[in-house]
Amino acid sequence: MFVTIEGPEGSGKSSVTKEVVKLLEQEGMEVILTREPGGTPISEQIRNVILDKENTSMDPVTEALLYAAARRQHLVEKVWPLSKAGKIIISDRFLDSSLAYQGGARGLGIDYVLAMNQYATDGYYPDLTLLFDIDPRLGLQRIAANKGREVNRLDLEKIEFHDSVRQTFLSLAKRSPDRFVILDASKAFEEVIKDAYNAIKNKLNKCK
Ligand code: TYD
Repeated sequence: MFVTIEGPEGSGKSSVTKEVVKLLEQEGMEVILTREPGGTPISEQIRNVILDKENTSMDPVTEALLYAAARRQHLVEKVWPLSKAGKIIISDRFLDSSLAYQGGARGLGIDYVLAMNQYATDGYYPDLTLLFDIDPRLGLQRIAANKGREVNRLDLEKIEFHDSVRQTFLSLAKRSPDRFVILDASKAFEEVIKDAYNAIKNKLNKCK
């Protein structure tokens, strides 16, 4: 099963997901947690180029292509082989981030970015996508309060950009209600962990 974790900045998705993985592992499940952009050495190198705060002149199409290239390598080297071996793979961000950030917020258009990603994914989709929904004002406040978290090039965008990311995610969820589960990420940490865990368990039970 391939699960993806999506949401605006500061939604707490990465911290919550780590806790959910621990819970699943305690039940004896083998879970592989990975991330995009990244997850393999080549994809992590591409990540460094994309998120470098010095790269202020990066063209939006170049940005979208780099995310797609990192994604391709991640799928070929990691996600597909593990999925074939029957593992549960959870990826912190995937295709929907490209649709929300590059397609929606950057203004390239969802269909344009989706078409570009067809080459990267061969039309492969997650079985389940958890959308950690939060008002970006709250999300960015959390990032500012969390001194340990690195601020990247996309965190530095204006609030309108982050609003557009959120709205695009919500419209993607509306388009594919069978794949998406929307979680209220403004709730207390423990509550969100419970909601995320339940959503994954429900899907696993259905897949049995
Ligand atoms: P990261 O530090 O992993 O942030 P987060 O904790 O919010 O996931 O940085 C990933 C950044 O890249 C984040 O700002 C979202 C952005 N992104 C895209 O714009 N398009 C994509 O396709 C992906 C995967 C991420």
